Amino acid sequence: MIYISKKSGQDFKILNLADVQMGKNEWEPTHKFRQIFDTTLDELVSRVKPDLITMTGDQAWCGDSESLEELAKKLDTYGIPYALVWGNHDQDGGKEKLSQSEKVFFSHSLFRYESGPSELGYGNYVIGIKEGDKLVHALIMMDSHDHAHCYDSEGKEIFAWGTTPAWGKLYPEQIEWYKEQVKMLKEMGCPSSSIFMHIPCFAYHAAFDSAFAGDTTAISVADSYKAESWKQGYQDSFGVKYEGICSFPQEDGVFDAVVESDHTKHIIVGHDHKNCFSVVYKGVRLSFAMKTGAGCYWTPELNGGSVLTINESGAVFSHEIVDVSSLL
Ligand SMILES: [Fe+2]
Repeated sequence: MIYISKKSGQDFKILNLADVQMGKNEWEPTHKFRQIFDTTLDELVSRVKPDLITMTGDQAWCGDSESLEELAKKLDTYGIPYALVWGNHDQDGGKEKLSQSEKVFFSHSLFRYESGPSELGYGNYVIGIKEGDKLVHALIMMDSHDHAHCYDSEGKEIFAWGTTPAWGKLYPEQIEWYKEQVKMLKEMGCPSSSIFMHIPCFAYHAAFDSAFAGDTTAISVADSYKAESWKQGYQDSFGVKYEGICSFPQEDGVFDAVVESDHTKHIIVGHDHKNCFSVVYKGVRLSFAMKTGAGCYWTPELNGGSVLTINESGAVFSHEIVDVSSLL
């Protein structure tokens, strides 16, 4: 477990970046994507003044070490610790490249990360936020892998949402590991936790369908903050869904374990660049992190980062949008 200290009586702020995913040439100082990323991150750091920066995966394409090095160098300029989980595109260069990606970041002193048990993948670990001797919150960082085979009741493989095999999910062994971490955190007196991973769990579908009051998903970001956009009981939701939810296509058992834990209050994911909804479902806030920068595909109106603010009352999730229209 990694510990990071929170100052007494002050909010602890986590700034999350999602799906930076820029290629080598896009990191060139003259490239528009580089300028968009630098402007976005400079603005986010100056606005939020984070104590920790997290990244919810797809930091680069296929374990591209040079791009990861550029990203780490940029993060180093702020002097703020940073942590991450890996996304599907961080893994599609193979396990060796993923090990290499870990090494790139390990050479940077502000990087906070553990590989975790090797049978569970890469980067299953816990960050404890401590005020004095007391744990006030924990970040449970989990590897949602890249793809997973999915079969129907007759044993036929399901090819869903444009990928073969389907999008990845947490292994059953990871769910057991998660339960052990929560048990340990409770024994340590830690009152609550948040899960950070890349690919949403299956419950994101039911959460959005339960909460959204519209018959179309084409509402503006501004309208998504109006109570009338959400059904009764879900009016503290916000954010939009501009594309299909790209999860593993069948129930994965994650959300039941989270609800049963009675400890994890947030799940924060990346992966879908045009989704940023945040809904409290069965007592857990399920959120898509705001996409950061123009890498891969994006919508300029959904550019920025997300913030998890931790204090004595718990953890609050919000988005920060950065307008980069002057750079387009
Ligand atoms: Fe992804």
